[in-house]
Amino acid sequence: MFTDCSAVPIADMPEPRKILITSALPYANGSIHLGHLVEYIQTDIWSRFQKMRGHEAYYVCADDAHGTPIMLRARAEGIEPEQLIERVWHEHTEDFAGFEIGFDNYHSTHSEENRVCATTIYERNRDAGHIVRRTISQAYDPEAEMFLPDRFIKGTCPRCGAEDQYGDNCEVCGATYAPTELKNAVSAVSGATPIKKDSEHLFFKLGDFEKVLRDWHKAGHVQAEVANKLNEWFEAGLNDWDISRDAPYFGFEIPDAAGKYFYVWLDAPIGYMASFRNYCDKTGVDFDAFWDADSDTELYHFIGKDIIYFHALFWPAMLHGAGFRKPTGVYAHGFLTVDGAKMSKSRGTFIKARTYLKHLNPEYLRYYFAAKLSSGVDDLDLNLEDFAARVNADLVGKVVNIASRCAGFIKKRFDNRLNDTLDQPELYATFVKAGDEIAELYEKREFGRAVREIMALADLANQYIDDKAPWVIAKQDGRDAELHAICSMGINLFRVLIGYLKPIVPVMAAQTEAFLNVEPMRWDTQAEPLLDHKINAFKPLMTRVDRDRINAMIEDSKEDLATEQQATGGGSAAVAADSPLARDPIAATVDFADFAKVDLRVARIAKAEHVEGADKLLRLTLDLGGEMRNVFAGIKAAYRPEDLEGRLTVMVANLAPRKMKFGVSEGMVLAAGPGGEDIFVLQPDDGAEPGMKVK
Ligand code: MSP
Ligand code: ZN
Repeated sequence: MFTDCSAVPIADMPEPRKILITSALPYANGSIHLGHLVEYIQTDIWSRFQKMRGHEAYYVCADDAHGTPIMLRARAEGIEPEQLIERVWHEHTEDFAGFEIGFDNYHSTHSEENRVCATTIYERNRDAGHIVRRTISQAYDPEAEMFLPDRFIKGTCPRCGAEDQYGDNCEVCGATYAPTELKNAVSAVSGATPIKKDSEHLFFKLGDFEKVLRDWHKAGHVQAEVANKLNEWFEAGLNDWDISRDAPYFGFEIPDAAGKYFYVWLDAPIGYMASFRNYCDKTGVDFDAFWDADSDTELYHFIGKDIIYFHALFWPAMLHGAGFRKPTGVYAHGFLTVDGAKMSKSRGTFIKARTYLKHLNPEYLRYYFAAKLSSGVDDLDLNLEDFAARVNADLVGKVVNIASRCAGFIKKRFDNRLNDTLDQPELYATFVKAGDEIAELYEKREFGRAVREIMALADLANQYIDDKAPWVIAKQDGRDAELHAICSMGINLFRVLIGYLKPIVPVMAAQTEAFLNVEPMRWDTQAEPLLDHKINAFKPLMTRVDRDRINAMIEDSKEDLATEQQATGGGSAAVAADSPLARDPIAATVDFADFAKVDLRVARIAKAEHVEGADKLLRLTLDLGGEMRNVFAGIKAAYRPEDLEGRLTVMVANLAPRKMKFGVSEGMVLAAGPGGEDIFVLQPDDGAEPGMKVK
């Protein structure tokens, strides 16, 4: 027996580390989808694991709120960018909470903390001579009076002649080129032909940091595959990086360059720092301890493979140039495919976080992603068949099953009290011992391998129960003690398994803690079994994945697309259809099956009114034979409202409701004509009745 506690070695529990963890900041103009969630779930599992190990770990993130697309999106919606990013921040926060992403702080790059951090980093780099100014010539939209980012220039592909190609690559033939090479190039913002215009820009001299970066990469702060890619970039030479944009721009004005703004990618990674600053200010955690050049804390960035350049070159260089520490690890993951293909809106596999949550338990996905994740940058596939099969077989069939096979007897026969000894201490010891290997796999982000280890243990536990067959013993007289020992052993094995799975399925773990009547499990609480311990009644912890729910989610995602297309004109530039920014409405052909989906009905215009603030729209109340619809129609120039009331027209009755600036539009009136005053509402023949189907 040890008498002096301090002399007891704490087996396998490492010294507490100080760890700051981030995920990439999602753009504030779109919804969180399952592709994003690969990253947030991966990071969250790692962060929860570190906390369970007893480390001082913080997981911070923020919305990436700046840039031209966000500015234009807000304009298209007729709101200020601040309003847009505020709304999206709430949506994102809710979506993340729905998936149990346990951020310690979720901030925004459009924040005072970020302005201060960005200014500091910029000024220190400038004062150290790492910023230069140069005049460059760029595409400019003379009508919208703004410089055009590549993706807002469209035209005909110089190689294959495909029309309507955006930016610097052709979606049809895959050619890449300078946007200036596009034939008949026009601005996607106004439709005007872009001109060339000069302007002075500020550049960050990335080349100054070549040695620093090479040394940093060699020291193992990036994955091997990434290091190879970086070498290619080094060979190609490190160019100066343009960090400024001209007004109009939504971002931070550069302190010593009026009318010029920091490019969104300058202040985006600084948002990691700003979010942590905001957290430290609220909690008293020591910010400098994490960011000083000689910091002994750890800093990890989890990112997608598409943004390696920014995180493995610009970001460490900027930090170094400003006298801050560099990241301990930049960990890139691959992209999500669904059923073997890129997520597709039309197939319904572009699934938003919110849509998923309407139909399925978030922990199914957390588990499935964990089972598929490795430390590499390979893409991972969400195969919906496999998803259902795997979750049902592993979580429900193997893990939860252990508890449900034992808990009933403990309750009915032993008043919910566990036995005071273990039936098979060696088996329990095997489970505890496996924890070291599992921890190592978590640490290395080899979650798939960790899951396999845990499931192998679950197989052992089930094997134990199968061998002992408590349901047989329960029916035999005088074998109560045995029954008690077996079921208590089963519950103890179950507890260890859930402890190991806790970073992946935190809700199921919390429910288990309530069931077992224990404090929140940590890694080191597993070593001691629960003996002579009162537990609570068992409630089912997880139900099976239902294929119908998956199908419903896919259908729902197809509807999301329909709604979105109305809201954005389907353009990749995130611009609303009813704005002058809309993509050309030159429609592709519609096949008959799609056309047949259009439900045309006769409607009576019950009411027609002017819309305050709208130049072209009238608000129509349409009577579909009893059902009333609110529809906005762009026919103000052609009709006085009073002339329309009482008339019959044809409407598309099954158009998904569309939120417009002035309200929700629940259908579309068919009208034809060259435009302006000459638009004619189509009128059905005499004898038509509201609600009639048009054939
Ligand atoms: N705003 C930038 C990141 C700035 S970090 C300082 C950005 N935003 S994003 O919303 O486009 O993506 C956020 C993260 O999600 C990125 O790491 C990106 O790689 C990841 N993913 C986006 N789509 C994804 C998939 N389909 N699959 C896996 N990850 C994906 O980039
Ligand atoms: Zn082409």
